[in-house]
Amino acid sequence: MRYAFLLIGGLEVLALAEVKYLFSTPEIVDGRIAVVEVCEPLFYRLALTKEVIELLEVCDYSELEDAFAEIPIPSQPLCVRVKRFRRTKTSTQELERKLGEILWRRGAKISVSSPKSVVKVYIADKAYVGLLRHVTDTKQFEERHPNKRPFFKPGVMLPRISRALVNIAVKDGLFLDPMCGTGGLLIEAGLMGLDYVGVDAFSNVVEGCARNLRYYGLHPSVLRGDAKTLPFKDSSVSGIATDFPYLQSSKSFGSLEELYCKSIPEFARVLRFGCRAVLVSNIDIEEIVAESFEVLEVFRYRVHGSLTRRIYVCSNSKGNSK
Ligand SMILES: C[S@@+](CC[C@H](N)C(=O)[O-])C[C@H]1O[C@@H](n2cnc3c(N)ncnc32)[C@H](O)[C@@H]1O
Repeated sequence: MRYAFLLIGGLEVLALAEVKYLFSTPEIVDGRIAVVEVCEPLFYRLALTKEVIELLEVCDYSELEDAFAEIPIPSQPLCVRVKRFRRTKTSTQELERKLGEILWRRGAKISVSSPKSVVKVYIADKAYVGLLRHVTDTKQFEERHPNKRPFFKPGVMLPRISRALVNIAVKDGLFLDPMCGTGGLLIEAGLMGLDYVGVDAFSNVVEGCARNLRYYGLHPSVLRGDAKTLPFKDSSVSGIATDFPYLQSSKSFGSLEELYCKSIPEFARVLRFGCRAVLVSNIDIEEIVAESFEVLEVFRYRVHGSLTRRIYVCSNSKGNSK
């Protein structure tokens, strides 16, 4: 089934990666809209998509009225909602009225105040018509803001970003954050129903992370350990996402240079062949990463003037496939 994803503004590149790794490579990318063939609608996992429609038609703007004369009509009361990403001669409201009227003439039940189905139209380079199937609950991310957790450290990633990184790293199987800190990535993995385990080098952080996981009703699956010598067998995890210490707000256990050089090959050792690691750093580490992994993509995400996070999406396709 083909769906159109409306990506959130400002983080389109990362949002597109979340869609791509959780579902498949988009057939069309038109500004904030990505059209994707989806087998398993895991929409509840999405962090950086605003909403998803089941596609009925893709056409030129000038062909919209003809398309509305043909699209299947839901039997329940419906309304038409238009979102424009470029200027059109006709206003949004006028277009909604016009297109709704075409469906009404064809026998549709219209209810603007309490529709049971919403026919959405996105107008970008092309016009995308579909039935609204998912709206992301954005309030949940506010409610899980890091400063609302029992154990808080400044400078940690926001839940929405953490969730997207977990989704880029893994679809199913065991998820590992080998430098888990307060547990932001583990919480998102746990709330999505994934199996997860975290490691941190400092016992006070491990205890704090366990407290945070329990606070969200999740198992405190976190161990004290060193990312340079992880307590896991070879090829035992299905996805890794982690952010390296930045020193301003989080310490490194041992020198930071040694941490980068020794932990990345260790991540490749414990990760199954063909699976992904998403590594976040405040410095350029592509050369070190490329020694152990195939680097699929690098994103830069500016947090504030003195912190730009680099996000490396890596595939473990260099090691032994056995
Ligand atoms: C940037 S923080 C992680 C933040 C985390 N994503 C969160 O949600 O709180 C990096 C973490 O790495 C941990 N760390 C530093 N050196 C480590 C090592 N050698 N092995 C494991 N953890 C380490 C620090 O204690 C810190 O909690």
